[in-house]
Amino acid sequence: MARKYLIETFGCQMNYHDTERMAGLLEESGYTPASTTADADVVVINTCSVREKAEDKLYHRLDELDYQARQEGRRPLVAVAGCVAQQEGEKLATLGRPVDVIVGTQSVKFLPQLLEQAGLKPSSPPTLQRQPVIDVDLHQDVSFPLGVARHGDPVRAWVTIIEGCNDFCTYCVVPYTRGHERMRPVADLLADVRHAVDQGRVEIQLLGQIVNHYAAPDDPACDFAALLERVAAVPGVRRIRFASPHPRHTSERLIAAVRDIPQVCKHVHLPVQSGSTRILTAMRRRHTREQYLELVDRIRGAIPNVTLSTDMIVGFPGETRGDFDATLSLLEAVRFHGLFSFKYSVRPNTLASKRMPDDVTVGEKTTRIMELQAAQRRIQLELLQSAVGTVEEVLVDSTSRRRETEVSGRTSGNTIVNFAGGRELIGQLVPVRITEAAPNSLRGELLG
Ligand code: SAH
Ligand code: SF4
Ligand code: F3S
Repeated sequence: MARKYLIETFGCQMNYHDTERMAGLLEESGYTPASTTADADVVVINTCSVREKAEDKLYHRLDELDYQARQEGRRPLVAVAGCVAQQEGEKLATLGRPVDVIVGTQSVKFLPQLLEQAGLKPSSPPTLQRQPVIDVDLHQDVSFPLGVARHGDPVRAWVTIIEGCNDFCTYCVVPYTRGHERMRPVADLLADVRHAVDQGRVEIQLLGQIVNHYAAPDDPACDFAALLERVAAVPGVRRIRFASPHPRHTSERLIAAVRDIPQVCKHVHLPVQSGSTRILTAMRRRHTREQYLELVDRIRGAIPNVTLSTDMIVGFPGETRGDFDATLSLLEAVRFHGLFSFKYSVRPNTLASKRMPDDVTVGEKTTRIMELQAAQRRIQLELLQSAVGTVEEVLVDSTSRRRETEVSGRTSGNTIVNFAGGRELIGQLVPVRITEAAPNSLRGELLG
């Protein structure tokens, strides 16, 4: 009997894509998916460390698994992967919680071997060791074919183009959990894209901490704008998205590429973090409020109907009410279609954790984030309402959670649209007339 695995994912799109890679590797080595932890021989927890709350989910989950194992008198092997595994390494084994394998962010491809070392072979009884097996080497090479990834989404495929980050924004743990920046060869990326299309995927999402810093190690002429062209040239690619670009690498060439390449979605997720130049400097974001606003104008001037979304942090050390008001006023000035907002959270190793006291109270952070989100809800609803009556091209990606006779998809601008239709529409680009706006999505009717 083949051994069964289950992977739980707690992080960002890159983390989710690592889950797809681990699933693919395990299935290649003979494992089959389990439907519950009770049914699994190995449970992999793919962790995130970007905020303290995300990290806490791991400890909570380990406690739950431990409790469940005691109740059932049977314990699956537990592997911890992802950014907390990388950050904490062998410390994870000293917490009194069951951890058998610790696999860092750059060692994903060795997961089956690590499980085997821990005593789990795909088809033989486990002989568990006491000491966990650990691989948190950050200096692995970045060749990993998507060929083995088990795509979890019927329509889109994620392709990591850059691993790691060298920017060291003062709040951010990612350079420590994912290592220094390494570009994957463009030849590998295009092979991944072709493979994804062969598997029926029509949307490619390019991933990296600063995607627009891309420079192909195997082709000096291939920067990020050129990469978009090359991906678009792969037959069968209907849509391309990317996350996240950095404001300071957003060149005219790139803006023109987004405008001119039909497959590239007219949506730019452009993290700003704060509207106060003083705080941006303390964050080491290397752009000012004015530069950001000017970039927004250039993007909007060049690309008709482009939508913008962003990330913002409230309560960074030293953030005054005045700084926060500057963030609010930037939100009002830009009118983003989407916002991811976070309360500042102290992360290990970061410069801010060493030099900048976390001096905004929890209560004040909560007040600020609620104000920000209330403003965003109002703006977003106004923007969505203004879409009523228009016709949008929607890529259908699922049946609706509420009704089987309804499908759901996204516009080029990344807005969710629900409308009546059957599951045979999944994977198709169809014209939809927008009839109604909800707080986070649109409703419409299929045309023709
Ligand atoms: N590379 C991306 C960000 C990746 S992390 C970029 O530079 O845009 C995703 C988001 O998490 C960040 O944009 C930031 O808004 C948030 N974040 C990162 N560290 C954080 C921290 N210590 N506290 C709160 N939010 C944080
Ligand atoms: Fe973190 Fe800054 Fe790198 Fe983004 S650019 S991953 S926020 S250090
Ligand atoms: Fe992603 Fe979280 Fe790591 S955001 S890169 S899984 S710290």
